[in-house]
Amino acid sequence: MPYSEKVLEHFQHPRNQGSMADADAVGEVGNPVCGDVMKIYLKIRDRRIKDIKFETLGCAAAIAVSSALTEIAKGKSLDQALKIEKDDIVRELGGLPDLKIHCSMLGVEAMRAAIAKYQAGQK
Ligand code: FES
Repeated sequence: MPYSEKVLEHFQHPRNQGSMADADAVGEVGNPVCGDVMKIYLKIRDRRIKDIKFETLGCAAAIAVSSALTEIAKGKSLDQALKIEKDDIVRELGGLPDLKIHCSMLGVEAMRAAIAKYQAGQK
């Protein structure tokens, strides 16, 4: 299965790419399968994701996944964001080749890591 048009479109025009100097939380994960790395930056207000950015050193699928995740998560409450699954992102992207399904884990895991750090800091 080749990349869907949506994957290619997100890869060529990633949304919310870049770092965030004043982030409230940052989550970083590496993919043990390929060594790629993803960072998610969150700006949180009233337990809601006000802004989200990503930096990904990875394949086209990982970049498309990051981009789609930021679109899905922006504006969501932390509880809603924690319910986003990798399948939601794969569906949003119109599917991923089987060999690239592991790439879809990165986004969700990096965002969950950032939220966990934020919540730990709040206690
Ligand atoms: Fe590494 Fe896709 S091959 S995240």
